[in-house]
Amino acid sequence: MKRVFSGVQPSGNLTIGNYLGAIKQFVEMQNEANALYCVVDLHAITVPQDPAELRKRSREIAQLYLACGVDPDKATVFIQSHVKEHAELGWLLQCASYMGELNRMTQYKDKSEGKQSVQVGLYTYPVLMAADILLYDTTHVPVGDDQKQHIELTRDIATRFNGRFGDTFVLPEPHIQEFGARIMALDEPTKKMSKSAENEGSRIAILEDPAVFKKKIMRAVTDTENEIRFDEDNKPGVSNLLTIYSLFAGVGVDELVARYQGQGYGNLKKDLVEVMTDQLGTIQKRYSELSDPAELDKILAASAERARTIAEQTVNRVKDAMGLVRL
Ligand code: TYM
Repeated sequence: MKRVFSGVQPSGNLTIGNYLGAIKQFVEMQNEANALYCVVDLHAITVPQDPAELRKRSREIAQLYLACGVDPDKATVFIQSHVKEHAELGWLLQCASYMGELNRMTQYKDKSEGKQSVQVGLYTYPVLMAADILLYDTTHVPVGDDQKQHIELTRDIATRFNGRFGDTFVLPEPHIQEFGARIMALDEPTKKMSKSAENEGSRIAILEDPAVFKKKIMRAVTDTENEIRFDEDNKPGVSNLLTIYSLFAGVGVDELVARYQGQGYGNLKKDLVEVMTDQLGTIQKRYSELSDPAELDKILAASAERARTIAEQTVNRVKDAMGLVRL
C-alpha cells in the first residue's frame, strides 16, 4: 500500500499557497493511502521563534489540517517533536550526508543570504526532512514545487545508505501537482507566495477575513492587456489568478479561460473572491468548531503513539545496519 508523509512548518499563518499546493492534496491522498501528516516544529526552530508563539502555532496548524478535511480516523496527524525518532534518525543521517550536497540546497542559500550568523540547524535542515520521510517507509510525498530539491536529496541519501549498509530505506517519490505546485505572490507574481514575506498584500491566509482578502485579490497585479489567457511567462498575474480559481472551484483552467472570454479582469477577480469566500468560509467554520484544546491534544497524542510504533522499527533497522549496539 502507498505510504504518504508530509509536513508543514508552524512558522507563520498558513496561506492559500500551502493549502492549494499541499494540504488539499493531503485530504485527497488520505483515502487511497496510509497517510501521516506532521507539524514540523523541529524544522521551525532552525530560525529564531518566539516560544509561546511557536507552541500556539503548532497546535493551530494541527487544527487547521483537520479543518481543511484531514480526518484523524484515516490519517495520522501529529507534532514532529512528539516522536523523538525524528531527531534521532536526523543525527544518524547527518553522519551519512555530505556538506557538498547540503551546500547546493537553494532554500538554505535563500534563507541564509545576507545573514551574519546562521544556525547550524538551518544548514542541516534537509537531512532532518530526509529523516521525516524515511522514518515511515514513505512512498509518496505531497508537496509544492519548492520542496522538490529536498526530496531529491532524500532519495540520494537513501540510495547511498542502502548501497553502503544494505537495503534499509524505501525510496520516496515527490507528489507534485501540475497546476498549483507554485502559487505566486499577488503583488509580484513572478515570486512564490510565502507565509513569511514582508508584504501582507502578497498573500492570503487560509483563516483570513473575506473583506481583507477581497481587497488583496482586487489589487492583485495583472497586466495592461485586459485579455484572459493562461500564459505563465507573459501573463504571470492572470495565470496565477486562473490557477487559484481553478483549484478552489474544481474547474479546469481551459474552461475558465473560455468562460471569461471577452471579459475584463474585474469580473474574474470578483467571481474568484466569491468562490474563495465560499471555500475558505467552510474551512474557517470548521476551524472554529474544533477549538477544544483537550480534544485536539487527545488526537495528537494517539497519533504520535501510532507514528512512534513505525518510527522505532526504522531507527532500530538503521542502528543495526550502522553497527550501533542495541540491548
Ligand atoms: P513549508 O512549511 O514551507 O510549506 C508547506 C507546504 O506548502 C507548500 N507551499 C506551496 N505550494 C504551492 N505554492 C506555494 N506558494 C507554496 N508555499 C508553500 C510547500 O511546498 C510544502 O509542501 N520543508 C517543508 C516542511 C517539511 C516537509 C517534511 C515536507 C519538513 N519535513 C517532510 C514534506 C515532507 C517546508 O518548509 O514546508
